[in-house]
Amino acid sequence: MRNDIAKILVSETEIAEICDRLGKQLTIDYQDKEPILVGLLKGCMPFMSDLTRHIDLMFEVAYMSVSSYHGGIASSGDVKIKMDLDISIKGRDVLIVEDIVDTANTIVTIIELFKHRGAKSVKMVTLLDKPEGRQRPYQPEYVGKVIPKEFVVGYGLDYNEFYRNLPYVGVLKPEVYNK
Ligand code: PRP
Repeated sequence: MRNDIAKILVSETEIAEICDRLGKQLTIDYQDKEPILVGLLKGCMPFMSDLTRHIDLMFEVAYMSVSSYHGGIASSGDVKIKMDLDISIKGRDVLIVEDIVDTANTIVTIIELFKHRGAKSVKMVTLLDKPEGRQRPYQPEYVGKVIPKEFVVGYGLDYNEFYRNLPYVGVLKPEVYNK
């Protein structure tokens, strides 16, 4: 698996620093609130797990499963809800937790949906932001690291459902997806 990685873009050490920094910031910004952290599966999993241990607040956690990549390396633009929330977000402060924002098709669709459902506020925290990939204007409130327009895997991010278990974020060798 590790032989398929051309280079490491965000190391384990850097990920730990990001979780610490963002967790401290969120602890300050949400100190008077009881937010719901909504993780968008499956990519959010390791980040949600590590980040939440740095947030010193009362909050709830919920998950939704959405997908727009359907296995390839480019967004289809068609955001599908595969599993919905099991709690109401009406009147609540919602913080969406993501591994990456690329085209922003996913996050913009989900934010519109949450506002329609009556959330009091909807913000997002993302480990990675790839602004050069945007198809819609969108700026996440909390960003771990801005990355260039390269196809990355690891720490939750997949190619054809593999590589999510890498402890770092790396660039996949092009020969892997050009096979
Ligand atoms: C990835 C990622 C985000 C979305 C970001 O999910 O986890 O949800 O793509 O891309 P966008 O900004 O271009 O919409 P994916 O659809 O691959 O599902 P997964 O989390 O199950 O891997």
